[in-house]
Amino acid sequence: MRVLVTGGAGFIGSNFVLRTRDTRSDWSMTVLDKMTYAAHPETLAQVLHDGSGMVTLVKGDVADQALVDDLVADHDLVVHFAAESHNDNGLDEPTPFIESNIVGTFRLLEAVRRHDKRIHHISTDEVYGDLELDDPYRFTESTPVNPSSPYSASKASADLLVRAWIRSFGIRATLSNCSNNYGPRQHVEKFIPRQITNILEGMKPKLYGSGRNVRDWIHVDDHNDAVVAIIEQGRLGETYLIGADGERNNLQIVQVLLELMQQPADWYDLVNDRPGHDLRYAIDSSKLQRETDWRPRYADLRAGLEQTIEWYRQNADWWRTAKSATERTYARLGR
Ligand code: NAD
Ligand code: DAU
Repeated sequence: MRVLVTGGAGFIGSNFVLRTRDTRSDWSMTVLDKMTYAAHPETLAQVLHDGSGMVTLVKGDVADQALVDDLVADHDLVVHFAAESHNDNGLDEPTPFIESNIVGTFRLLEAVRRHDKRIHHISTDEVYGDLELDDPYRFTESTPVNPSSPYSASKASADLLVRAWIRSFGIRATLSNCSNNYGPRQHVEKFIPRQITNILEGMKPKLYGSGRNVRDWIHVDDHNDAVVAIIEQGRLGETYLIGADGERNNLQIVQVLLELMQQPADWYDLVNDRPGHDLRYAIDSSKLQRETDWRPRYADLRAGLEQTIEWYRQNADWWRTAKSATERTYARLGR
């Protein structure tokens, strides 16, 4: 099968390419990536130059209709990860979020429609807005979209376009909305890598507001295995929520990192809150588990964090340049 992976040089997309190259040896993959600040050129080097030709890279924009048309025509399946993904950036400058996340998805859908190809669209639990800390329910596939931020509004818009193209034009598509990912190769702007690399560099972790906001953490390999399960076993036209029952507040995560990295439990700073900061996300993934054989393998968040810390320890060359640029941006934002 010929698979076009958009955003395959970013965090989740690159882990997807590296993992499926081992687990799906009959897939040849073309990565289409704009190589923004979030893509790391070294990440895919090992598979791009392994001599097999099974993974190739095209540098380009998903919003470039002519390019996307040519590429989609040559592939059987599109797995669409490409997006601007960081909330703090969307609050600072929303324009690329509209262009890449909404217009980019629109262009892909048009190509998929013209060439009658299958697409799997990757999305986020943030499209559902947030929950109260004591809400007794979690997000399901029938929760109405109610996004709060430029990023989540752009992803909700993209999801609605995919759903409309399914219903109006009968395109062969599936969607998934996943909770917060962690694991190797995540950009240091994101919460967990920022705190790990702060500690490695002798700086205190930075918690927004009170540190009580809750996220539902899942290891990136569990996310990507679920994506493959949906591609192979999911029903066309359907949305699946992906989550691994990993709810923790941000302070709890920082305290685990501090303990695993032999620092005092109160060695952190509370900094300015993110504007409009969503309070809590929580995913009910029972539909996915009912309809596919996917089950999360990283049930132990602490063990997953330990593995992630080790990866950042061993790969300082991968993150060091981005770290200084990222911290300059956070200093400007007062966070
Ligand atoms: P990331 O920022 O690490 O990577 C995004 C990749 O997309 C980068 O390689 C970037 O260069 C590329 N890209 C951006 N705009 C592009 C464009 N116009 N054309 C082509 N390539 C472009 O993001 P990530 O965390 O890996 O997220 C990947 C996808 O998963 C996104 O769609 C995101 O909304 C979704 N998602 C992320 C999480 C999470 O916790 N990180 C959770 C659920 C869903
Ligand atoms: O829920 C899925 C989403 O998870 C994805 O769609 C997004 O692409 C991904 O970035 C992530 O969004 P969040 O905004 O939840 O992730 P982030 O890593 O930016 O922040 C996680 C939590 O930690 C959030 O409550 C904000 C807080 N935070 C973040 C940073 C960077 C801090 O307290 N301190 C920080 O330094």
